[in-house]
Amino acid sequence: RPDGLVDSFGRRITYVRLSVTDRCDLRCRYCMSEHMQFLPKRDILTLEEMVELSEILIARGVRKIRLTGGEPLVRKGMMELVRSLGQRIGSGLDELVLTTNGTRLERFATELHDAGIRRINVSLDSRRPERFGHITRGGDLSQVLRGIDAALTAGLAVKINMVALAGINEDEIEGMLRWCAAMAMDLTLIETMPLGQVEEDRTDHYLPLDAVKHRLEERFTLVPSTKRTGGPARYFDVVELRSRLGLITPLTNNFCEGCNRIRIAATGTVYGCLGHDQKVELRDALRSGGREEVDRLLDRLLAGKPRRHDFQIGGAPAVARHMSVTGG
Ligand code: GTP
Ligand code: 5AD
Ligand code: SF4
Repeated sequence: RPDGLVDSFGRRITYVRLSVTDRCDLRCRYCMSEHMQFLPKRDILTLEEMVELSEILIARGVRKIRLTGGEPLVRKGMMELVRSLGQRIGSGLDELVLTTNGTRLERFATELHDAGIRRINVSLDSRRPERFGHITRGGDLSQVLRGIDAALTAGLAVKINMVALAGINEDEIEGMLRWCAAMAMDLTLIETMPLGQVEEDRTDHYLPLDAVKHRLEERFTLVPSTKRTGGPARYFDVVELRSRLGLITPLTNNFCEGCNRIRIAATGTVYGCLGHDQKVELRDALRSGGREEVDRLLDRLLAGKPRRHDFQIGGAPAVARHMSVTGG
């Protein structure tokens, strides 16, 4: 029986982020360039190959799989994958979770819950229709809001992800926190990360979250929370709102020491770190049915997994690939 996945710094990998497609029905300005080239279908793992790979990872100690994209719910047949992996919840997996832009939740929320998913993260950077349309290059806010309602109605716990952007949505942060509290959803704020070229200069919109936290503390009492998800956020209880706020601070407060994750692109490329090019290619090994070869490649990935990302604000992006390749 193969060993668990432990890297050269002794970090155990129990969390896999699996990007099921690089495609997305939105084009968030900080995430994608306006004219993204999407991958041809033959380069993408089939859903069966994704299940097979997941089984190998579970055998090696992975306990949480997060389905990401692009937008995972635009992949054809996606629910079959969710149902297959869902069968492993409680016998192999502790959790199967999903990160989505919310546009197709109205259609899929109930099925997701039926398949065993219990919590999802929905990206929402603005609650103003025009601004949302601007950030996403044409997205329809009302569709996402209906999706969130459908998810809550279906019994899914929803966490809202908001990338904090100076001069774009920073004036909405407090309002978003109050709205999430009223809807019994956690809110997580994210620092913009320099991944891939986009038309805008991310430096212009970089908003350090330590400053945001100080500002919020003029209004609210933030107490470090005991909540742990195995993800990168640090959580605070917002006493006055009886709600929770998560902060993801790759730039102002590095969390790589506790890293427990690897990420798989839809092509079967596995990356050791969000902010590095270090990778192995699993597709050919999967296609030729070489289970031992897959294990060997995973070992090689783990042996070379970087200690931390090299994100810096200003200058060129740390890596050329966009967030949409690995879903973060
Ligand atoms: P939970 O299971 O709820 O903790 O989710 P999560 O925060 O792990 O996943 P989500 O997809 O909501 O990701 C939120 C943000 O965290 C995204 O912008 C990801 O790119 C970012 N993120 C996730 N893992 C890492 C990581 O290892 N390093 C960095 N720098 N960012 C990460
Ligand atoms: N920096 C930070 N977060 C990003 N996301 C996409 N691109 C970036 C970036 N460059 C966010 C999305 C989504 C999550 C998976 O990653 O908004 O919430
Ligand atoms: Fe699509 Fe998510 Fe990227 Fe926005 S952040 S363009 S919703 S993949």
